[in-house]
Amino acid sequence: MKLECRNICKLYGEGTTASRALDTISFETGEGEFLSVIGPSGCGKSTLLKIIAGLLPPTEGTVTYTGDNPGTPLNSMVFQEHGVFPWMNVIDNVAFGLEMRHVPRKERYAQSMEFLKKVGLASYATRNPHELSVGMRQRIAIARAFVNNPAILLMDEPFGSLDAQTRLILQDELLNIWSEHRKTVIFVTHDIDEAILLGDRVMVMSGSPGKIQEIIDIDFQRPRDLRIESTREFIDIRIRIWNILRAEVGRSIGGDNHGAGN
Ligand SMILES: Nc1ncnc2c1ncn2[C@@H]1O[C@H](COP(=O)(O)OP(=O)(O)O)[C@@H](O)[C@H]1O
Ligand SMILES: [Mg+2]
Repeated sequence: MKLECRNICKLYGEGTTASRALDTISFETGEGEFLSVIGPSGCGKSTLLKIIAGLLPPTEGTVTYTGDNPGTPLNSMVFQEHGVFPWMNVIDNVAFGLEMRHVPRKERYAQSMEFLKKVGLASYATRNPHELSVGMRQRIAIARAFVNNPAILLMDEPFGSLDAQTRLILQDELLNIWSEHRKTVIFVTHDIDEAILLGDRVMVMSGSPGKIQEIIDIDFQRPRDLRIESTREFIDIRIRIWNILRAEVGRSIGGDNHGAGN
């Protein structure tokens, strides 16, 4: 399944008080591509994902899905937090989307168990989410997104609230599951290294209003692991992305030592 965004604009509010969150965003994804999206806070990343998910109408422009995956939902969303229902146990959380599609109980538990194994939570199937760490809850959200077998997976800073070590483990697990199932993924992050480590391409955005600055090809072979982070190519890409972002970030935090030209 491929996705094409053509000239997406988004205004919040109306008339003279309207503010432009996104300005003529155009890009497409390849089949099974992992696209990382990075940009300063407030540049419209979440707005863009919601428009792609069909949760929010664009003011202008179109989102087109092409390809055929009959019977599967078009997309699944994974958020930074609050993705897990506290009143359901772990396996029912994972199986939620399947239940909504009336997949019989035995079948949905079998499928959910398969993904719980992949994220290392099989023995927690009947636990309640509040007994688990934040990292484990994000694993539930990831298992649920994949078990839904969506055409496209939309992830909005899913590891943003995790500590650095847990984050590394979940990045690894995500890459493993992704390389097995090859979903098209749009992965929003504010972590430059994460964007490069995971993505086939990194889309770098700037804010006020949100625009695409550059889309950078990331050519490291897969499977990838942390070792690529110490290569010259990785460091060059990191600097290239930082040079785009630093002017933006500087502008938003103010002061004499930041901002364009410094
Ligand atoms: N529901 C809303 N109503 C009005 N403005 C909004 C709304 N949601 C987001 N915005 C504004 O749109 C801009 C982009 O927000 P958002 O998409 O959340 O950015 P990001 O996810 O990159 O941090 C911000 O200036 C934000 O304040
Ligand atoms: Mg956001």
